[in-house]
Amino acid sequence: MHTSDDKILILDFGSQVTQLIARRVREAGVYSEIWPFNQANEQRIKEFAPKGIILSGGPASVTEGDTPRAPQMVFEMGIPVLGICYGMQTMMHQLGGTVENANHREFGRTEMAIEKPSGLFENVWKISDTPTVWMSHGDRVAEIPKGFEVVATSTSCPFAAVADESRHFYGVQFHPEVAHTPDGAKLLEHFTRLCGCTGNWTMAAFKDRAIEAIRKQVGDEKVICGLSGGVDSAVTAVLIHEAIGDQLTCIFVDHGMMRMNEADEVVSLFRDHYKINLVHNNSADLFLGRLKGITDPEEKRKIIGKTFIDVFDEEAGKIGGAKFLAQGTLYPDVIESVSFTGGPSVTIKSHHNVGGLPEKMNMQLVEPLRELFKDEVRALGRELGLPDVFVGRHPFPGPGLAIRIPDDDITEEKLETLRKADAIYLEEIRNAGVYDDIWQAFVILSKTKSVGVQGDGRFHGQTCVIRAVTSTDAMTADFYHFDWELLGRIATRIVNEVPAISRVSYDVTSKPPGTIEWE
Ligand code: XMP
Repeated sequence: MHTSDDKILILDFGSQVTQLIARRVREAGVYSEIWPFNQANEQRIKEFAPKGIILSGGPASVTEGDTPRAPQMVFEMGIPVLGICYGMQTMMHQLGGTVENANHREFGRTEMAIEKPSGLFENVWKISDTPTVWMSHGDRVAEIPKGFEVVATSTSCPFAAVADESRHFYGVQFHPEVAHTPDGAKLLEHFTRLCGCTGNWTMAAFKDRAIEAIRKQVGDEKVICGLSGGVDSAVTAVLIHEAIGDQLTCIFVDHGMMRMNEADEVVSLFRDHYKINLVHNNSADLFLGRLKGITDPEEKRKIIGKTFIDVFDEEAGKIGGAKFLAQGTLYPDVIESVSFTGGPSVTIKSHHNVGGLPEKMNMQLVEPLRELFKDEVRALGRELGLPDVFVGRHPFPGPGLAIRIPDDDITEEKLETLRKADAIYLEEIRNAGVYDDIWQAFVILSKTKSVGVQGDGRFHGQTCVIRAVTSTDAMTADFYHFDWELLGRIATRIVNEVPAISRVSYDVTSKPPGTIEWE
C-alpha cells in the first residue's frame, strides 16, 4: 500500500531500459508502476489514478501499421504526459503529427541545443545550454501536432525535445533514464514535481506494497525459499516471512564450500533470530564426493548446480505440498520485453543456485525483488531490520570456494586452508574500515608452491593470491588501491597464521581484461 496518492504510471513499449525509468522515479521519492502498454485499459488507468504518465521507448516503428499505441485516454485525462523515444513518436503520431524513418540511425552520446525555455527543463537546463544526452533511435518526428513546439534540437534530430506547455505534454527523443544522460535523473525528478508529486515515497512503502502482493499471490498456500547466505535470498525470505509467517519454509543447502562460520551464521540469524522455519541440509560430503578429482571450472559448476537441485528437490519433497517457490531474482537478472501480439514475454537468465529448479519442480514463482537493483535490495533489507553487516555483505558466488581453488581439485584440506586465509583477510579489511569501499574481496588458493623460511628451515608452502575490486555491477571492475601497510599486515598475518601458506601476492588486474573470480 502506498502512503500517498502520488503515483506515476509508466507504459512499457518494450524498451530494455524501461525499469530504469521506474528506478529514477523511485529515486525521486515517487511511487510508480510499469504496465505493458497492451494491459492498460481505460478502466484500469482510471482506477489507478496516476498524477502523470510516462510512455517508454521500444523497438517498434510507428511508421509501420500495426505497432503499439497508447490508449487514447492517456491524452484526455488532463495530466502531464512524457513520451520517451518511441513513446514520443507514438504520442506525436496519435496527436496528429508524423514520424518518418531517419536517414541514418542516431546512437550514443549527442550534444543537444536548448532552443526555448520549457516547463520540462525548469531548474535543469536553460536556453542555449548544450547538454549531453543519450540517443538510440532509427525513426524521428517529421512534423509535430498542433499545440506543440520544438524546445531542443540536435544535429541529426530537429525534434530532440518537444512540448505542449498548456497541456503539459512533453516528448524527448533521447533517453533521460540512462546514466549516459547526465542530467536525466534530474529531468525525470522535475517531471514528477510538475505532475504535482511531492516525493515522500520511501522503501517502507515498497515493503508494504510487496507484502500485500505476496499475500494476494499465495493466499494460504505453502512457499519454499532457498537460502544461500547472500543478501538477495535473505531479503526475499524475511520479506515473505513478514507477509505469510509460517506458511514459508526456507531450505539452506550447505554444500561445504562456504566461508568460515558462514553456515552457522545463516542458521542462527534465520532460525533463532527471525524464527523462520528453516531446513538446514548439510551435504558437504555428497558435494565433495562428486567433485573428487574434478579440476575443470565449468565441470565443477555443473556438478555443484546439479547436486544442489537434487538435494533441494529432495528436501522440498519432504516438506510436501508447497505450490510456490520463492526466488531472489533481481531486475538485472530479468530481461523483460513486450510481445506485440500477446502479453508480455519474459526471459529469465538461469540463476546459479536454483537454475532449473522451477521447471523441475513444477512450482509457481514468487519473486518480490524483480523490480529492484542491488542497492535497492540492500535498502529494503535495512527496512526489514536485517543487520547491517549482513545487508552490506560482498556478493559470493553460488559454487562458493570451489571456484577459488583454480585448476585444482577440491579437498577438505584445501578448503580449510583457504577458509583460514580468507577469514584473516576479511577481518583485517573490516578492522581497517574499508570493507564497504570494496565490491568483493577474497582469497584464491593457487596450486603454485613457493619457498618460504620458517625459523632456520626452508619450506615449500602454497601461494595464495588476494583479490579486491571496486565495481557497481560486476560487469566492470577496478582492482582496489590498498594502503601498502594494510596489504603488508594482511600478508604477514596469513603467512604466520596459516601453516600451509608460504607466500601472498596481490592481483592488480582489472575487469576487463580480467574477470573478478579466477575461474
Ligand atoms: P566474473 O568472475 O565473471 O564475476 O567477473 C562476476 C560476478 O559473478 C560472480 N560469479 C558467480 N556467481 N556463480 C555465481 O553465483 C558462478 O558460477 C559465478 N562466477 C562468477 C562473481 O563472484 C562476481 O560477483
